Amino acid sequence: MLGGTGKTGRRVVRRLRDRQLPVRVGSRSGTPPFDWEDRSTWAPALRGAGSVYLSYHPDLAAPRAVETVGALAELAVASAVPRLVLLSGRGEPEAEEAEQAVRASGAELTIVRSAWFAQNFSEDFLLDGVLGGVVALPAGDTPEPFVDADDIADVAVAALTDDRHIGRRYELTGPRLLTFAEAVEEIARATARDIRFLPVSIEEYAAAAEQHGVPAAAVDLITYLFREVLDGRNAHLGDGVRRALGREPRDFARYARDAAASGVFDPDRRAAA
Ligand SMILES: NC(=O)c1ccc[n+]([C@@H]2O[C@H](COP(=O)([O-])OP(=O)(O)OC[C@H]3O[C@@H](n4cnc5c(N)ncnc54)[C@H](OP(=O)(O)O)[C@@H]3O)[C@@H](O)[C@H]2O)c1
Repeated sequence: MLGGTGKTGRRVVRRLRDRQLPVRVGSRSGTPPFDWEDRSTWAPALRGAGSVYLSYHPDLAAPRAVETVGALAELAVASAVPRLVLLSGRGEPEAEEAEQAVRASGAELTIVRSAWFAQNFSEDFLLDGVLGGVVALPAGDTPEPFVDADDIADVAVAALTDDRHIGRRYELTGPRLLTFAEAVEEIARATARDIRFLPVSIEEYAAAAEQHGVPAAAVDLITYLFREVLDGRNAHLGDGVRRALGREPRDFARYARDAAASGVFDPDRRAAA
């Protein structure tokens, strides 16, 4: 379970454990530890596994990601762990290269190619803006079909536990296109707080992120995604949740309500932590 403590990975782990299935978390904090930057940790993490959920960190569009996930897939196949479920990104050329590199390993592969995660607002780099009441992004008005990480986890678990998903590629999106401004409106409604979306230029966004101490590599990655990938190419719905699970994906409004009910958007709770 690579990335097993991340946004999608921890949900996959919870579901597998609920089914009493044995799970090994493959991350730097796992036992044994797994580090993408230290290949000597890979074989011990793979040993004895039946299948691998492959979620790369930080992003498949990061430098060296394609080569790294390709090498991991080759080692998995050579270690008699050919069953891989790869978390990929929609409309990212590098993610498609990574898919090809993993496929070239000869793995029994399921590709989970996902839209933007709704949970970026509650568990990642957009949370600070939500808590502060202003989400400033160079997102313009390009709509995105945000997908719920719970749906990604449901599809990943189906793929990890059922061989019928071998050879499939699922395009996972939510059921609705929303601009970032509309997504922020949904969160404001769910929290009954005044939270607004502020459109900014790429340069303004990068300067503000650097000022807040965001590492240069992370700023590069995020600005790349907004500049190159969020250009309308992904502004259509995918049918992956329905194809894989036979049900409709969760709507963003439901995500926003559940996240608000968990208290994650409550600035007082953050201040007390
Ligand atoms: N966010 C989106 O909207 C989106 C959309 C489509 C696709 N994706 C893809 O989703 C993937 C990320 O998945 P996610 O959001 O579920 O994960 P995530 O929340 O970014 O989680 C990070 C995970 O990676 C582990 N990790 C961090 N550095 C590591 C290292 N050097 N070696 C090993 N593990 C490391 C962390 O655990 P430790 O700290 O314990 O190491 C944690 O388990 C990326 O490949 C991205 O391309 C993201």
